[in-house]
Amino acid sequence: MWEADAGDLFANAMPSGSAAKRTGVQRAVTGELTGDDLEVDRNLRPQSLDDYIGQERVRDNLRVLIQAARERGESLDHVIFSGPPGLGKTTLAGIVANEMGAHMRATSGPAIERTGDLAAILTNLEEGDVLFVDEIHRLNHQVEEVLYPAMEDFYLDIVIGKGPAARSIRLDVPHFTLVGATTRAGLLTGPLRDRFGISYRLDYYAADELARIVERSARILGVTLDEEAAAEIASRGRGTPRLANRLLKRVRDYAQVRAGGQITWQVAAEALTFFEIDELGLDWMDIKILTALTQTFRGRAVGLTTIASAVAEDPSTLEDVYEPYLLQQGLMVRTPQGRQATLAAFEHLGITPPT
Ligand code: ADE
Repeated sequence: MWEADAGDLFANAMPSGSAAKRTGVQRAVTGELTGDDLEVDRNLRPQSLDDYIGQERVRDNLRVLIQAARERGESLDHVIFSGPPGLGKTTLAGIVANEMGAHMRATSGPAIERTGDLAAILTNLEEGDVLFVDEIHRLNHQVEEVLYPAMEDFYLDIVIGKGPAARSIRLDVPHFTLVGATTRAGLLTGPLRDRFGISYRLDYYAADELARIVERSARILGVTLDEEAAAEIASRGRGTPRLANRLLKRVRDYAQVRAGGQITWQVAAEALTFFEIDELGLDWMDIKILTALTQTFRGRAVGLTTIASAVAEDPSTLEDVYEPYLLQQGLMVRTPQGRQATLAAFEHLGITPPT
């Protein structure tokens, strides 16, 4: 099921006006999954809580809850992971399934178009399975309504036929664990949110955690790199394992062609500059956004759609993919009047702020 639905992730993979169009190289810093990365991403994913680096509170918590459920011979309560793309929501879902000794079925909110799709998925589950629903905030209303009793009491009410001949049948579904993931926790409806017994917000990783992730990935990829090189890649990885791993692969490419395969700090730094990733991990699109805010709009507050048209990007991509990190880095703020560059943004770009 994951194979079929992965197409949905590919659909979002390349925001319009992306680096791919400009340079022929895929934009290195979106959190989205794309072709070659999807495959590598799978290999680099830790399979157990012991192998997982970072998100300590989540890990410690899950360890207790999983052990308790296993000891009672029950399935784990439904879990929701929220946070920016690339922080490990899908990875953690896979780990939950592994640690529970269960199978994982994966799909996504927009892929479940009709209630019948959901019924087919749920009735094909086995007792104890983990059902992973990515982008769960994008489930449509009818599907959500059918999901509620399935989550709570493990049955479905399905309407068959239309008009006067329509009748409703009740189907039992196996006890399963729903693991939902969302980049937009604020868009979850109250009733859906309330049905998750376990809820975690994933945060950006610290630089030292990201460096350990890069070193682990390098070992799996058979790449040798020194500690300083790992730290350099991590420092430009925007606190996001998926991006840090992607940068590692680009650095490996560069090192192979330009530096005889040796990844020293010097080579890593050169490679990242070559691919237009700056010291904060910002790429040309982030710079374009900050340039619009600081130069075009001279530091004034502007609305999302205004910025989006200034940089020729889709407003929701701007909001989900680019903004979170710029906000987290204190380069922009959201005020009731709109988005605004901070002094730090002016300084980062070397522009004198207006008086
Ligand atoms: N690869 C991607 N994310 C990871 C993580 N959190 N820990 C270890 N390896 C990873």
